[in-house]
Amino acid sequence: MQFIDTHCHIIPGVDDGPGNADVSLEMARLAVADGIGTVVATPHVVEGYYLGEDRELQLRRLRSLFTRENLDLNLVAGAEVPMSLCASGDENLLKRLSIGGRYLLMEPSETSMEQLAKSIYQVRLCGLYPVLAHPERYSFAHNQISALAQLLGGNDVYIQVTVAAIEGLFGKRAQRAWEQLAAAGIVHLIGTDAHSARLRAPLLSASYEKLSRLAGDEAARVIMLENPVRMLAGERLAWAKPSPKRGFWPGHFARRKR
Ligand SMILES: [Fe+2]
Repeated sequence: MQFIDTHCHIIPGVDDGPGNADVSLEMARLAVADGIGTVVATPHVVEGYYLGEDRELQLRRLRSLFTRENLDLNLVAGAEVPMSLCASGDENLLKRLSIGGRYLLMEPSETSMEQLAKSIYQVRLCGLYPVLAHPERYSFAHNQISALAQLLGGNDVYIQVTVAAIEGLFGKRAQRAWEQLAAAGIVHLIGTDAHSARLRAPLLSASYEKLSRLAGDEAARVIMLENPVRMLAGERLAWAKPSPKRGFWPGHFARRKR
């Protein structure tokens, strides 16, 4: 089974991802070699960056490049949407930026739990399922795991952590936060949030092995293989309760690195 990367900045020249098509191709080669068969292209939608009008055109150009280079990588349209746009409740815009007309990848940034709840409510009113991108980086998720779990519960709201947090690239706080989220059973997806072919690259296989070793095979399969398929099919995501091996969570990495 091939991986689906549900968060990737691979379109050239539209945000802080690849500056040109050569880097996009390099990213695509890495992804394919790592067992990724599909990438959801999720450019930032903020002022000064890509605003989504030419999303299909950009994707068509990139698909043609992949074909020319014999790269067997599917590209799916998506976007990473800031809180301000989510809070606008602009149904036409949010549906246009969604993944398959069903999921909206929300970039929460630093915010309060109250503000987050309001934005989620607006997105749900549009008939979309919100997916919170990398909450492990933000203080609203640190030490407020149960409040966050309450916010998600029964509301068709999901959490996507990123490979960089698992690998410790965003520091111990983010690493501990993603472990706590996973231990609470509220991690639904893991994306690469790749921006280049270097430090933040489109690679998932090492994280799959790590998650499987630490949280159990079942949780790894649900989070990294099954839920991405459900997402692209517009189906509700499954909730994965980890069954840790070797007395893992929480704080496994943080304790080890002290
Ligand atoms: Fe991103």
